[in-house]
Amino acid sequence: MSSMPANMQAPVDASRLPVTLPTLVEKQRLGEPLVMVTAYDFPSARAAEAAGVDLVLVGDSGAMTVLGYPSTVAVTADELLMLARAVRRGLRTPFLVGDLPFGSYEISGEQAVATAFRFVKEAGCDAVKLEGGGASSVARARAIVAAGIPVMGHVGLTPQTATALGGYKAQGRSAVAAARIAEEALALQEAGCFSLVFEAIPSAVAEVVMERMEIPVIGIGAGPATDGQVLVFHDLLGIREGRGARFVQRYAELQPQMNAGLAAFAADVRSGAYPAPEHGYAIDAAELATFKKMVSR
Ligand code: KIV
Repeated sequence: MSSMPANMQAPVDASRLPVTLPTLVEKQRLGEPLVMVTAYDFPSARAAEAAGVDLVLVGDSGAMTVLGYPSTVAVTADELLMLARAVRRGLRTPFLVGDLPFGSYEISGEQAVATAFRFVKEAGCDAVKLEGGGASSVARARAIVAAGIPVMGHVGLTPQTATALGGYKAQGRSAVAAARIAEEALALQEAGCFSLVFEAIPSAVAEVVMERMEIPVIGIGAGPATDGQVLVFHDLLGIREGRGARFVQRYAELQPQMNAGLAAFAADVRSGAYPAPEHGYAIDAAELATFKKMVSR
């Protein structure tokens, strides 16, 4: 018997096999677009499982979407690990990637490998992701790969270092900046990354860099040339206030529905409309009479 509450059981495809590294490579070879989404807890993982996505990323975007930090900088490995464990419990088939948070991998190869091991051993992640394609990020990726853990790289807009990049804005919009992104992507590929994320770079730049990429590349705000696309769960389902980045496509507007549902609950409690008789539990009349006598003594 499943230990999952009945109301959480999504209509998953029981015949679907778990997605592995060879599955991703095969899909890339066949030109089948890869679908990745972020998730941060059990219900979002169940939704990703039910949708049959290929990869799930426990992104450090969770710092903002579910933990309420103003940026991704403050979130700790312990916090992301707790989210990742909940996601793991909700997933069976998608390939699970854990995002290494800012400050958890930059100091040394040893630090990077130790943090990556935690995501695999404590949260059951299949791989980790790290940001940046400069020399030190490439060295950290190489160290983690050498330790036997698959690494996803991330170039273009890298939110952990957005301040140094001049804010949350598209990258690679000059020839020099685009060439730097191409160099970084190639260096991460050469370091053994199994996949890369291209974030917020011109579509035409992504198209050129893709000619040199052998590993699967997942884009977010990088146009259609990449091997797949990723969006943040809360962005695509409209669980947020404000518009979000240019590349966000909303597939639902859940925040207004959540607000309206809670407002209706509050109104029903205040008016006495909830709970109604059908929400209560009954007791046998004789038992009730005895109980009343017992407490009146
Ligand atoms: O943290 C995150 O959600 C990400 C994706 C935007 C790729 O890094």
